[in-house]
Amino acid sequence: MIAERMTTIEEIIRDTGNDRTRLLDVLQAVRQNYGFVSNDALQAIAVGLRMPAVEVEDTLSFYAFLNRTPKGRFQIRLSKTPVSLMKGAADVAYAFCAATGAPLGGTSPDNQFTVEWTSDIGMADQEPSALINTTVFNSLKPADVPAIVSALRLQGDPAKLQNAGVRPSLTQAGPVIFSQEAAKTGDGIRAALTLSPEDVIKEISKAKLRGRGGAGFPTALKWKYCRGAKGKAHYVVCNADEGEPGTFKDRLLLIDKPDLVFDGMTIAAYAIGAKDGIVYLRGEYAYLWEPLQRVLDDRSKAGLLGCNVCGHEGFDFNIRIQLGAGAYICGEESALLESLEGKRGAPRDRPPFPTDHGYLEQPTAVDNVETYACAIRILERGSNWFTTYGTPESTGTKLLSVSGDCPRPGVYEVAFGVTINEFLDLVGAPEAVFVQVGGPSGQSVAPKDFGRRIAFEDLATGGSMMVFGPGRDVLDIALQFTDFFVDESCGWCTPCRVGTTLLKKQLEKIVARRGTLSDVVAMETLANTVMRMSRCGLGQSSVNPILTTIRNFPQLYEARLQPETFVPRVTLSEATAEALAIRQSEKSEKKDA
Ligand SMILES: Cc1cc2nc3c(=O)[nH]c(=O)nc-3n(C[C@H](O)[C@H](O)[C@H](O)COP(=O)(O)O)c2cc1C
Ligand code: SF4
Repeated sequence: MIAERMTTIEEIIRDTGNDRTRLLDVLQAVRQNYGFVSNDALQAIAVGLRMPAVEVEDTLSFYAFLNRTPKGRFQIRLSKTPVSLMKGAADVAYAFCAATGAPLGGTSPDNQFTVEWTSDIGMADQEPSALINTTVFNSLKPADVPAIVSALRLQGDPAKLQNAGVRPSLTQAGPVIFSQEAAKTGDGIRAALTLSPEDVIKEISKAKLRGRGGAGFPTALKWKYCRGAKGKAHYVVCNADEGEPGTFKDRLLLIDKPDLVFDGMTIAAYAIGAKDGIVYLRGEYAYLWEPLQRVLDDRSKAGLLGCNVCGHEGFDFNIRIQLGAGAYICGEESALLESLEGKRGAPRDRPPFPTDHGYLEQPTAVDNVETYACAIRILERGSNWFTTYGTPESTGTKLLSVSGDCPRPGVYEVAFGVTINEFLDLVGAPEAVFVQVGGPSGQSVAPKDFGRRIAFEDLATGGSMMVFGPGRDVLDIALQFTDFFVDESCGWCTPCRVGTTLLKKQLEKIVARRGTLSDVVAMETLANTVMRMSRCGLGQSSVNPILTTIRNFPQLYEARLQPETFVPRVTLSEATAEALAIRQSEKSEKKDA
């Protein structure tokens, strides 16, 4: 059995070109073939890739989707977010446990099913949702579960089940990305190829395009730096990690408009002088891998990829897809690059920036899926047309992923500058009590600020817009967001690793009505320290749920606080009585022995 496995692992390694930077692919293939990566497999991979076993272990232990121990034949991962829980995810989880016999977080006695929670799987508009192996199931109800489980036992292939798959998500098309008058695939590339690479960058600059991944960095500037940087090769990377809870607009683009994204990557390659592009696709979107690969194959056949793209002598460009393995931090661009190189997704120190030292230490432009889609529209229709939408500092439109308490969830393409009030009317939720703009790492916005605008100069968002109606517990939701960061911290630096856990404990105490004003002050002080001292954007923004709710909902904190002279209901001796009793009995057992 072991010898058989070794041979196959050798084959897997050969398939990836004996390249240790493809370690993530090797581990994914081994997990897919055997259900988990055993110690034997780990050793075989280390030998095959000629690298220390400890480095293989380092990568292997980092990613949530690379099982180190056996799991059920069907791995059921339920999306756990405030929105999914609001829509009944806990009942669905219990229904799966009841139907399979698996405990939550464990495997059924017949080893067929593992049922567990996972972070948001990019289905916030169709919650409760779950991944069964790599197939997505949407809008689950407890009553559906027994039939799903029976069908799995019978059919064996989740993808063949009736309610498998993603429902269409586009709720409102806008004038740019989903424009009715859109050009044909490849037109934008052909338009770009009539210009010099420098002039392509100038056009993007005149359009004032800013990155849609959240930070809003000027795209033209990034491409200009990258083009100017020296290296053996330049790379274009599309950040399709889309891990921010509540966002799913990149998923929609990759399903509905993949050519638009690949066109955008192709003009970026022309602009910066790259021959290779990589789409980093989050592990939760593994079901998109095959359809996207088919689109890439068709593009190669149509001359939109490969040698002399669109007949342009000397412009060669290819794209490959790299599948992630369940780590939110890999959306951060430098962690993403580490992951692309087959390592754990720990952010890099910067400078140097990816535009100088990116993938394999070479100049690399990392851009969001939507940014590429906008870039190609600019080349198709011109920068003047693009700037007629949005605000002077945030031009164009933005795709908003809308979920929560609203009758019409889904993706909305709106011009930048829309106010929260206008947005709430659009999605049919005028009575909302708060809106989480930009996901857990964004801002909790209260009704007093509903006149503010979605724009980089006011409320920036990568796209996540969670709407919460009357009766929702703002502080409990802030606690769930804080818990998300505890789980997703990569653990590299102490302020984030320890700080997020301490903050969660402090907020728990306040939510449970056991805290005082001093606790709030201490929590705010710690949150500011975590924000200032953390090494990357994850730790720096992990405190936002706490800081923005303290700022925008002080009355909710006040309502839960105990007076400063708070007398605990239990005494120290009562609290430690059980532990002392256990110690006492252990001592007596030892004596008896
Ligand atoms: C913790 C963390 C997660 C991130 N996740 C994503 C993501 O899923 N997708 C994305 O495009 N950018 C994400 N970013 C931002 C990227 O680091 C980077 O700024 C972006 O990909 C640049 O592309 P853009 O200029 O087109 O926005 C994340 C940043 C942080 C700190
Ligand atoms: S801030 Fe958090 S996620 Fe970022 S490097 Fe430090 S521990 Fe890792």
